[in-house]
Amino acid sequence: MARILVTGGTGYIGSHTVVCLMEQGYDVVIVDNLSNSNVEVLDGIERIVGRRPDFENIDCLDYTNMDRLFARYSDIEAVIHFAASKAVGESVEKPLLYYRNNLGSLINLLELMMAHGVKNIVFSSSCTVYGQPDANHLPVDETAPIQKALSPYGNTKQVNEEIIQDTCHSNANLHATILRYFNPIGAHPSAEIGELPNGIPNNLLPFVTQTAAGLRECLRVFGDDYNTPDGSCIRDYIYVMDLAKAHVKAVERMLSGAPTEQVEIFNLGTGRGLSVLEILRTFIKVTGVHLKYEIVGRREGDIEQVWAKPDKANTVLGWKADTPVEEVLMSAWNWEKKLRGIE
Ligand code: NAD
Ligand code: WQD
Repeated sequence: MARILVTGGTGYIGSHTVVCLMEQGYDVVIVDNLSNSNVEVLDGIERIVGRRPDFENIDCLDYTNMDRLFARYSDIEAVIHFAASKAVGESVEKPLLYYRNNLGSLINLLELMMAHGVKNIVFSSSCTVYGQPDANHLPVDETAPIQKALSPYGNTKQVNEEIIQDTCHSNANLHATILRYFNPIGAHPSAEIGELPNGIPNNLLPFVTQTAAGLRECLRVFGDDYNTPDGSCIRDYIYVMDLAKAHVKAVERMLSGAPTEQVEIFNLGTGRGLSVLEILRTFIKVTGVHLKYEIVGRREGDIEQVWAKPDKANTVLGWKADTPVEEVLMSAWNWEKKLRGIE
């Protein structure tokens, strides 16, 4: 079976994807510098799969060691590139860190792939590239206009996509699949791996589960005066295991030579928008946990509503995100309980 290089493979989405790849029989080598994950994730992966992926603690910015890695693993057939810095707020504070890490890592990888004859890359992009789509582009499909990024982080995704387009344009042998994720949530059903946010979470679900676990006193709902049915913002929350499976489909498609374009782009979402209040009420209903929340003012930079039209991924990749949100929220809670030793 083919070997896949997974950068950022001990991170949140990467670790779930490694599990799915290994369960399909792929050999995986992870490259991660552990800047936002820890090495015990490998134990969790091993407990689920029964095998341990190869792991290299290398920074993607370290060209020399990345070059050695490609030389050592001469059987790599595709790269899935998750490694990036991803905190929107931090990117506003430290833009150069974000530009250096997110652009430099991709540039190194593409150069080394071409030098070592690796032809396929799957790239983690984000629905953030669409900003707030206007009403006639909701749900948002892949042809919706890219809007000026609201943060340096968002801009790195846009520039990364352009770097990939330009590099593929200059090299007919290189193929890319750009996956634009909506809002990934949840954890592996075994609760062996899940999301490990650093410090106080910015994202909704880790804040919900940490509040439910008693680590945070009260969840703040950022605004109930939006132009949505209940006034709170709407997002397309996608189960991380469904998302992980899309990567396996993307790799299969590339390795079988099926892509019809050199760069294929897919939106990965459920096709269903849920409001913040719907998420909170569903979480309380399925877990039976008391969750204290209050409505506060809007968060700066928040988009009112966005959800995916995932038809292209459904038909072309043969993939669908179909795990019920109740199950997804329960998986997030089970993971938090396990982390905190709650029965
Ligand atoms: P994560 O932080 O959990 O995982 C990223 C991993 O990359 C971490 O393990 C980190 O240690 C590693 N890493 C970072 N820089 C590195 C470097 N220079 N060299 C080697 N390893 C490095 O993040 P995630 O949520 O799993 O996100 C994975 C990818 O998906 C990222 O590119 C992110 O921008 C993108 N994405 C995430 C979301 C989301 O909401 N989680 C949404 C859209 C897109
Ligand atoms: C979801 C909703 C908040 C926390 C971010 C990035 C985006 C992408 C995904 C990577 C919003 C509300 C949140 C809280 C709340 N990442 N909320 N109280 O903002 O859609 O996107 O993550 O590419 O680039 O910007 O996700 O989870 O932060 O927020 O009310 O304590 O929950 O206002 O409506 P977001 P999120």
